[in-house]
Amino acid sequence: MRFFAHRGVMARHPENTMTAFRAALEAGADGIEADVHMTKDGKLVLIHDETIDRTTDGQGRIADMTLSELRAVNAGVTFAVHEQIPTLDELIDLCQGTSVVLNLEVKTDIERYPGIEQRLVDTIRNRRVPVEQIVFSSFNHATLKRLKRLAPDIECAVLLAQPLYDLVAYCAKVGATAVHPNVRTMTDEEILQLQTEGLAVRPYTVKTVHDLERFRRLGVDAVFVNDIDWAKAHSTP
Ligand code: G3P
Ligand code: CA
Repeated sequence: MRFFAHRGVMARHPENTMTAFRAALEAGADGIEADVHMTKDGKLVLIHDETIDRTTDGQGRIADMTLSELRAVNAGVTFAVHEQIPTLDELIDLCQGTSVVLNLEVKTDIERYPGIEQRLVDTIRNRRVPVEQIVFSSFNHATLKRLKRLAPDIECAVLLAQPLYDLVAYCAKVGATAVHPNVRTMTDEEILQLQTEGLAVRPYTVKTVHDLERFRRLGVDAVFVNDIDWAKAHSTP
């Protein structure tokens, strides 16, 4: 079972910052999950919410701000350190030459960010990131469908916060070959059925040893964790 660092190593560092992503690499994460938004001037930035209010010392919607405005705020306030909001390009730079998977969660479930899918695919292509190193995911499955049309060779994963009727057929319709379910909302039987149908399952976010063992036993492809060192220390081979 692989470990994906949820927003980087967010248990020890400010989420979605270069320090948190660097810590994930240093801890030997198999994947790094990052949340992608688009600025007013069309730049792709990594931050969880659609506003900067919770995680920085600033205020406002990302869609209303330019990259240079966003770069002026401190994204390290939750740990009383100084961090800038990173760009996707910086994360790509960090991971260049490694085999770590970048799970780019496209945050179009509240803001739509028209054109974000094309910009994402252009960035991956222009930076020549190997396609096997990218997994796109989103709670907005229309975004996944658009990404799949633009880049059929890049894996898409349906993000789910609740059960969904006829999920296997739904994934086929969207073009997704993986499901990222909330840990609490999918039964063992449902996970096994998805795996039988050839879908990769990666539950988010595992915070207990009980869940680590549960998903290891089920043979899921990966789990999202907030602390890679913790996950490794508590995993049985
Ligand atoms: O991608 C898994 C997980 O990150 C989705 O939920 O709210 O942490 O972005 P959230
Ligand atoms: Ca996320």
